[in-house]
Amino acid sequence: MNAIPNSHTAERLFSGLMAEEYEKLKLICPAAADMSRRVGEFLADWVQGRAGPNRVLELGCGTGVTTAALLAALGEAPLTAIDSEPAMLVQARANLAPWIEAGRLRLIQNDALSFLRAQDDDSVDAVASAFTLHNFMYGYRSEVMREIFRVLKPGGLFVNGDRYGLDDTLEHTRLIQEEVKQYFKTFRELDRLDLLEHWIVHLFSDESPDRVMRLAPALEHMAQIGYQAVTVHYRNEVNALVSGVKP
Ligand SMILES: C[S@@+](CC[C@H](N)C(=O)[O-])C[C@H]1O[C@@H](n2cnc3c(N)ncnc32)[C@H](O)[C@@H]1O
Repeated sequence: MNAIPNSHTAERLFSGLMAEEYEKLKLICPAAADMSRRVGEFLADWVQGRAGPNRVLELGCGTGVTTAALLAALGEAPLTAIDSEPAMLVQARANLAPWIEAGRLRLIQNDALSFLRAQDDDSVDAVASAFTLHNFMYGYRSEVMREIFRVLKPGGLFVNGDRYGLDDTLEHTRLIQEEVKQYFKTFRELDRLDLLEHWIVHLFSDESPDRVMRLAPALEHMAQIGYQAVTVHYRNEVNALVSGVKP
């Protein structure tokens, strides 16, 4: 597939109502909060017995659900969290105020790729993310993965808890159909057809051929870039916890 320029990702998938009501995600996708916890636990294990780390990034922090898990994992070490959407960052700022005040967390409004491009080679200990990369178009995501690799220090970690489509496309479609049923059930009960519409539209975007992030090609792509120890630590339906290390 051709690389898609960054400008094509400019649509704002988490603005307006999607941002205001983002916490309802846990109703339609209870696995998301569990994955945030897993990303944090994975980082905590990685940090164990390591000096520092002094430079850890989170891409797409949203309202701060995974950020809180990462901060807990990092002990005293600082975290820089990036998100392009002001409406999500306003909530992150409120939710994570104690860490910001303690100087442990820096929130930055920027596009992930622009931010990465401005960083030096071999300058970051770890890059963590949750439920963000699957939103990117293929070419943009590919560039982000390369940039993460470039900025990581040798031995640096990339960990991502995200939607990774099943390589068995029939089973994948079955799971997406179940997901759609869950959306209808939840938002009908809440009498929020406005949110139902937004999440269905969002799901179409996630599932589009330009975006869908299937597991095997994603792992292959990481290996091609040069990541080593590319591993799937956990798989739950369309979600997976994946990591790789820069040699
Ligand atoms: C589904 S939310 C996940 C938020 C959070 N990581 C969590 O676990 O709840 C995806 C987030 O990625 C952000 N995002 C999407 N595209 C981005 C980009 N190109 N650069 C930076 N952030 C982006 C969105 O604004 C949104 O806050």
